[in-house]
Amino acid sequence: MSSPLSRLTCLRDYEVQARQRLPAGTWAYLNAGGADGLTHIWNEQAFKKIALWPRVLNNVGGGSTSLDLFGVRHKHPIFIAPMAYHGLAHAEAEHATAAAAAAMKAAFVVSTQASVPIEALSHRSAEGHLWFQLYLQDDRYVSLDLIQRAERAGFKAIVITVDAPIQGSRNEDQRQAFQLPTAVQPVNLAPYACRQINTTLPAGASLFQHPLIAQMPTWEAVAWLIRQTRLPVLLKGILNPLDVAPALDTGASGIVVSNHGGRVLDTLPAMLDCLPGIVAEVRARVPVLADGGIRRGSDVFKALALGADAVLIGRPILHGLAVAGSTGVAHVLNLLLGELEATMVLTGCKRYRTSMLPACAGLIAQADMSSASQAAMRKSTEQPMPLTGKQARRSIPGGKTWAVTEDPWTAWTFDRHDKQPQFLLQDDTAAC
Ligand SMILES: Cc1cc2nc3c(=O)[nH]c(=O)nc-3n(C[C@H](O)[C@H](O)[C@H](O)COP(=O)(O)O)c2cc1C
Repeated sequence: MSSPLSRLTCLRDYEVQARQRLPAGTWAYLNAGGADGLTHIWNEQAFKKIALWPRVLNNVGGGSTSLDLFGVRHKHPIFIAPMAYHGLAHAEAEHATAAAAAAMKAAFVVSTQASVPIEALSHRSAEGHLWFQLYLQDDRYVSLDLIQRAERAGFKAIVITVDAPIQGSRNEDQRQAFQLPTAVQPVNLAPYACRQINTTLPAGASLFQHPLIAQMPTWEAVAWLIRQTRLPVLLKGILNPLDVAPALDTGASGIVVSNHGGRVLDTLPAMLDCLPGIVAEVRARVPVLADGGIRRGSDVFKALALGADAVLIGRPILHGLAVAGSTGVAHVLNLLLGELEATMVLTGCKRYRTSMLPACAGLIAQADMSSASQAAMRKSTEQPMPLTGKQARRSIPGGKTWAVTEDPWTAWTFDRHDKQPQFLLQDDTAAC
């Protein structure tokens, strides 16, 4: 007899099932975006705008999804994003997610707001890749203590989330009057006297007058924390290429391009629209990871093709957890991995990045590039190069424009020093 889960054929099926099982308030907390939910929608739509250009009859024997990150070999690039309170989705909470992550050899980024103590997951650290996500606390020594607890528990990397110093206004949760049940709490913060900025202000009050606003952590606090740990530290929530230089100046070992799944500030751009600009600015100095709106293996493929080293999956993990506990999470990861491998085989790609880019390059946008833009772009590159054929271009935050050729097979025009396809950047920040 086949398992009932075999009828769940893709991540969307899990979403439908999870919604039916969870109370409306819990569903709103776990799934809604901020305000009007536009960024949440755009994250998914951005992937749908890119079509794939396949190569047929390529020999893809010996292909692989594995990758090396911070000296560790990962079987595949599909990681679990940090998310608060897995206990809302399933009684076994993060224990179930960690078991699935270990089974699927997926790195699992455990949230500061996990519903179980991080020490209770330490037995998984030997068999899986556990990373710890830190929300910066107003007292830097509390942040440091959390990092040191993660180190002692065997976690392999720290992800500092920098895009949510205050909570976003999640109107959907507010409409449902969602409250955390007493059984699900931020237990890892219990030992500390944590003060939070309450963004629901009395009439006439100003957020800027809140005493904690003046103490909000800055780049200096992040740099200090990074100096205190031997673990690699990634900064999560970078969207603007202008933030890459300060991020790398802190000593960060990696960047996660993310808009927090559209849960904090609505109308931020889609993750995928920001990714090429960040990748171009990082110039392969550190790994770039990305999350937001990934619902298919072909979405994973597109993010990798546009320069991500690995991706993080958010809500679908909680949907899998709500539907079938650790089995559901493992199934969600397995569905994505199967789809990624099929996409690679069907586009004729057996490795990441260099072989994937041509498969995505063609249809990202169809605009003809004006000769003025071409000239400006040529000027901005160290080595002028001919831009042949039709060009596609897109604006990214910071006033930069990235471009790829419309004909995917001439994407190799962009091969320069290191045989990696490069996106050209036009720096017109003065205009923004
Ligand atoms: C219910 C929920 C809780 C989240 N909690 C955290 C968190 O504690 N820390 C964090 O850095 N990001 C958190 N995020 C954001 C995710 O890490 C990730 O950026 C986002 O979910 C990716 O988008 P996706 O859900 O479309 O895959 C949360 C997201 C959701 C849906």
